[in-house]
Amino acid sequence: MEVIEAIKRRQSVRAFKPEPVSTQTLRDILEVAICAPSGVNAQPWEFFIVKGEVLDRLKAGCVEQFRQGIGPGPDLPLPDKEKGDMGLQGIYRKRQVTLGVQIFKVLGIAKGDRQAMMDYMEQMYRFFEAPAVIVIVVDEMFKLTWPMIDVGTLAQSIALTALEFDMGTCIMRAIVDYPAKVKEVVGIPESKKLILGMTIGRPDWDHPINQFRSVREDLENLLTVVE
Ligand SMILES: Cc1cc2nc3c(=O)[nH]c(=O)nc-3n(C[C@H](O)[C@H](O)[C@H](O)COP(=O)(O)O)c2cc1C
Repeated sequence: MEVIEAIKRRQSVRAFKPEPVSTQTLRDILEVAICAPSGVNAQPWEFFIVKGEVLDRLKAGCVEQFRQGIGPGPDLPLPDKEKGDMGLQGIYRKRQVTLGVQIFKVLGIAKGDRQAMMDYMEQMYRFFEAPAVIVIVVDEMFKLTWPMIDVGTLAQSIALTALEFDMGTCIMRAIVDYPAKVKEVVGIPESKKLILGMTIGRPDWDHPINQFRSVREDLENLLTVVE
């Protein structure tokens, strides 16, 4: 697949066929993706492929936390409202809302239907029933600073490589929202920080949630050329 075609075709996949994904395929994808660039070539990333019975326990564990009303507490900190950081504002918040509206529209979730929204959130903490997830971690030595950019380049590389294997992905913070639970179930050492999760599997293209495309800002509104 051509690079430009792959970049344009990639989209977050949020419904999967139940068929399992072989560990060998996931290894093949990661083998390509680790060609991604990283600052000073530190390659800070490490991976945990989670499938089968462990994945079932991980989903159950995350849903349980969510049902208990425990808020997300990923290792990479979220905006802290108590410290006056109100998170996304202005155009950025608008884009977030637009995405939510798109998702709820395709799923037929009416505005204010709290139960349906909670059900959707639960589905997210079930990682959209993907047959496999990849948890990307870095050593605690990295202090959650620049190497996080490296993880970003890596995640996009996984997403693009997966297309070549007819796989879909969704990069997901939700997979690492409850790091203590993920560490416990998956057996990730205390010395590792959980940065991102990714779902991976064969997309269910018939599912409505895979039938919308998120919108992008006009380049003109993002670009300044100086010469
Ligand atoms: C760092 C990061 C975290 C994300 N976390 C989630 C998530 O927890 N749940 C989810 O459904 N999508 C998540 N996404 C997917 C974004 O919502 C998606 O990339 C964005 O809406 C653009 O849509 P597209 O990927 O289909 O182009 C995440 C994406 C990134 C890059």
